[in-house]
Amino acid sequence: MSSVLGKLCPAVEAGAESPVGAFPAVRPRRLRTTSAMRRMVAEHRVHPADLMHPMFVREGLADPRPITSLPGVVQHSRDSLRKAAAEAVAAGVGGLMLFGIPAERDAIGSAGTDPDGVLNVALRDVRAEVGDEIVIVSDLCLDEFTSHGHCGVLTADGRVDNDATLLRYAELAVVQADAGAHMLGLSGMMDGQVAVVRAALDAAGHTEVSILAYAAKYASAFYGPFRDAVESALEGDRKTYQQDPSNAAEALREVALDIAEGADVVMVKPALPYLDILHAVSSQVTVPVAAYQVSGEYAMAEAAAANGWVDRERVLLETLTSIKRAGAGVIATYWATEAAYLLTR
Ligand code: PBG
Repeated sequence: MSSVLGKLCPAVEAGAESPVGAFPAVRPRRLRTTSAMRRMVAEHRVHPADLMHPMFVREGLADPRPITSLPGVVQHSRDSLRKAAAEAVAAGVGGLMLFGIPAERDAIGSAGTDPDGVLNVALRDVRAEVGDEIVIVSDLCLDEFTSHGHCGVLTADGRVDNDATLLRYAELAVVQADAGAHMLGLSGMMDGQVAVVRAALDAAGHTEVSILAYAAKYASAFYGPFRDAVESALEGDRKTYQQDPSNAAEALREVALDIAEGADVVMVKPALPYLDILHAVSSQVTVPVAAYQVSGEYAMAEAAAANGWVDRERVLLETLTSIKRAGAGVIATYWATEAAYLLTR
């Protein structure tokens, strides 16, 4: 036994059995000694460019309006949206994801395909403001625009009609690409939506507009605050088109289909309760993988922080790091712009 250990340990000095097990030479704690050391050896880090900021714009607002269940998030006016987009660019955020809230809704979501509809106007505004400095993603779905709140059009007996909905998605795609979206976020969970949208974009000459497929989107209670944010009219649920939280293998099948249909990026949603899915997906595919930290995840953390029960900034950064560690290359989060500053301070 070494004399150093012997000096440290009277039992060794006295000839006791080797205490190497009790005094290990390999000490993982050495790599945790200083914050510089921890920073250098960190296996995963979140970069502002990884982040995508979802933003809401409501038709007819003169000033931004707070969303009670999403403290710190607003329904933007046209003006405040342009400013928020510019702020995200200044912070180095990677992307923006735009959702529109129309003044009028109908059964087929006409406001979505109206070139002068709120989302399409906002896409033009934002593209004019920030150009190609950030990736502008448009939510491609009907739920914000339909009077019944479903992500598709309905059959006479009230079911969501998959193939009739695809025709509406094809129209939405071309209008949104015309309005300046760089990428379309297909969040409706209709079968075949990626193939149909890809074909519609290509036929319209938008071969460079990319598709972010919400490939594994679960029927989640964590979307609650979002429904307030978009003033959703939905009664009932989306369980016939969004995935059952019990299923994991099904997510891999959905992802494989979307990639085969031409998805450029696949997304898992929600994020934190579905890190296992995110990890499985990211270890199987070679396209970029995104995760959406949804409204309920954000709201839970904000509510706990507001009560002083958790440290807000630490929780915020820890959740993003966990999502990155699980395999996300891109993270949609309502904290994007703030997090970008926190990450670079
Ligand atoms: C559908 C859509 C939803 C969300 C994003 N896109 C709502 C839903 O599927 O019910 C939820 C996002 C969030 O909760 O933050 N267009």
